[in-house]
Amino acid sequence: MVKYTIILLKNQRKEVLKYMCKIYAVASQKGGVAKSSKVLNLATALGMMGKKVLAVDLDPQGSLSICSGVENPDSLTHTTYSLLNAALNEDELPEQSEYIVPREKMDVIPCNITLSALLSCILQGLF
Ligand SMILES: Nc1ncnc2c1ncn2[C@@H]1O[C@H](COP(=O)(O)OP(=O)(O)O)[C@@H](O)[C@H]1O
Ligand SMILES: [Mg+2]
Repeated sequence: MVKYTIILLKNQRKEVLKYMCKIYAVASQKGGVAKSSKVLNLATALGMMGKKVLAVDLDPQGSLSICSGVENPDSLTHTTYSLLNAALNEDELPEQSEYIVPREKMDVIPCNITLSALLSCILQGLF
């Protein structure tokens, strides 16, 4: 599994550049417009080009997780929901190996239906 590190230390420009990454977000309120397909294909293609890719599933439907080969995302303890929830509550995050699922061409942080509850809380201003 690839280690993903974000370093934001002053006066350590070289270290920051060493770990600099690009983040692409594919988002649309509308369903069925190929968001998941696009991410899966883009992530796989970048992985085949030798890039280190981490796909972060932020869709409660979990289609990207399932299509990436994650079996039964609903049974997982650590997902984008649990990570966001921990971050919002300022709890300690688990080890990366506990929530990043290694795949052949890319790694995945899976998502499941539990994220929809968190999204509702955020929309209601509860966080
Ligand atoms: N380029 C394409 N040509 C034809 N069908 C596509 C294409 N991209 C995606 N699809 C199909 O469209 C449907 C919706 O795609 P999906 O990626 O699940 O959308 P979303 O994530 O936006 O809900 C799926 O059945 C998918 O297989
Ligand atoms: Mg989708």
